[in-house]
Amino acid sequence: MPELIPPVVRVHRSFLAAMGELRAEGRGTAEDASMTGRDLYSYGGRWADPEVFAGYVHALRRGAAEDAPRPSGFVPCTTLWYVEKGEFLGRLDLRHRLTPFLLDQGGHIGYDVRPGARGHGHATAMLRRIAPYARVLGLARTLVTCEETNVASRRVIEKSGAVYEDRRGSKLRYWLTTTDGPTTRAARPRTDAALAPARPRLP
Ligand SMILES: CC(C)(COP(=O)(O)OP(=O)(O)OC[C@H]1O[C@@H](n2cnc3c(N)ncnc32)[C@H](O)[C@@H]1OP(=O)(O)O)[C@@H](O)C(=O)NCCC(=O)NCCS
Repeated sequence: MPELIPPVVRVHRSFLAAMGELRAEGRGTAEDASMTGRDLYSYGGRWADPEVFAGYVHALRRGAAEDAPRPSGFVPCTTLWYVEKGEFLGRLDLRHRLTPFLLDQGGHIGYDVRPGARGHGHATAMLRRIAPYARVLGLARTLVTCEETNVASRRVIEKSGAVYEDRRGSKLRYWLTTTDGPTTRAARPRTDAALAPARPRLP
């Protein structure tokens, strides 16, 4: 069973393979504004170096902190990786609050599943597991958006139980209630490290 966990250096090799798959489908260009796309663009081949990758993992984990450096207009963000038996499968980003742009277009949540692992329900499972993390941030509901033409993402959002609100331009906007379900020990985030700065660990 895959786990949704804070970024870790131990998946270095499969992470690189996953990024190669994403690049092969055209991700990581200057026009790719997704979180993964931006990272692919700025780190590129450099994160094959274990030290660079450790720094990247550290920066992602630190991104949840209010005082972490980030581009203008960006808000704190908890990044989680979907990992099974040491293999990186995908990524989910939970933005801690909405700016006017995020309310209109981007939403709280972004996600990617590596091309080689798609069609197995991983994105749906990640989205369904986000509630405990959202509750820790005081979010009773999260906004999830997708391009109208992104059939797979739309299906994922609808399977997760999110409720459609409206369409703004080419974006479909849905709200996912995150108050449902008891916050049992099992349902709680495995660690609060995703919400706090963490030290990089070398492989
Ligand atoms: C969108 C994405 C995350 C889905 O990941 P995934 O793990 O394959 O998703 P799931 O397996 O949970 O569900 C995908 C659903 O879409 C359906 N689907 C996929 N491609 C489809 C298509 N072209 N037409 C119709 N349905 C499609 C699948 O059949 C499945 O639905 P089902 O369970 O009813 O059969 C993945 O395709 C991806 O990373 N895309 C690029 C990044 C992206 O678009 N992110 C979202 C931004 S809003």
